[in-house]
Amino acid sequence: MSFKEELRKKTGEIEEIIKEYLPEETGFQKTVLEAMNYSVMAGGKRLRPMLMQETYRMFGGEGELVHPFMAAIEMIHTYSLVHDDLPAMDNDEYRRGKKTTHAVYGEAMGILAGDGLLNLAFETAAEVFTIEVSPRTARALQILSRKAGIYGMIGGQVVDVESEGQPLSRDKLNFIYRLKTSALIESSMMIGAVLAGASDEEVAAVERVAGDVGLAFQIQDDILDVTSTLEVLGKPIHSDDKNNKTTYVTLEGLEKAKEDVEKISENALETLRSLKYRNEFLEELIRMLITREK
Ligand code: IPE
Ligand code: IPE
Ligand code: MG
Ligand code: MG
Ligand code: MG
Repeated sequence: MSFKEELRKKTGEIEEIIKEYLPEETGFQKTVLEAMNYSVMAGGKRLRPMLMQETYRMFGGEGELVHPFMAAIEMIHTYSLVHDDLPAMDNDEYRRGKKTTHAVYGEAMGILAGDGLLNLAFETAAEVFTIEVSPRTARALQILSRKAGIYGMIGGQVVDVESEGQPLSRDKLNFIYRLKTSALIESSMMIGAVLAGASDEEVAAVERVAGDVGLAFQIQDDILDVTSTLEVLGKPIHSDDKNNKTTYVTLEGLEKAKEDVEKISENALETLRSLKYRNEFLEELIRMLITREK
């Protein structure tokens, strides 16, 4: 099977796992349930659950222990997008090739659907304890919580919005990217490793790999914001310019940004290959992200 075929097959399998944990659209709160399902099922690359599952497999993990966390990380990621698109934040009208959640359901429902997804994510992750109560399952839940919160994704979003319209140092930009984007990718890969029984040193190495993957991913996102189209990207281009954001591209220029995506990704791959386990698909996936167009 070619890498592309394998990617498509795995993405389909992940979609099925995510669906199992989505809510039924019934009851007086039906609108918010519809909005939650709309935003999760709108599409998306499912990169975070994929990185989680592939890291789990790399360390010899098998079976369903990782499934609740795969669904949970995609819920958290999706909620972060729903809120990121709100008028008070990036104020964007398209996401994953569709109208954003607040554009379809209204702003209040956009906020509530995000809140709903965040809570459902933790309810879902906690299902792991019906399979296994152990230090590793507890540790996985702790990583999920911390990396999504004020020391992770939310923290990065805070500094991102606070910095709009201001010049930024490379240091502060790095801080923002490591938190707003790398944190959930670190969470994904670390949870995969932890659930598969990786050692503390191995989990620390995985965190470094994921930190670099996330940084390269966000720089590529900045590049695509100026070079792509709404049709290909599924979200509006020039969103950063509209919001007066200092980005890696405005700071370093397009050419250097492209070079650095490759350099940082190669660094991630080198760290990954220094581990005693291998997963060729995972390596290929990280390499593919360097040239991704969406
Ligand atoms: C978008 O993430 C937000 C960023 C961190 C740049 P993705 O590019 O993974 O979005 P989906 O899940 O494929 O829609
Ligand atoms: C957001 O970065 C990262 C999140 C935590 C949602 P961006 O604001 O650049 O993401 P996009 O371009 O809207 O997907
Ligand atoms: Mg943003
Ligand atoms: Mg945005
Ligand atoms: Mg962006």
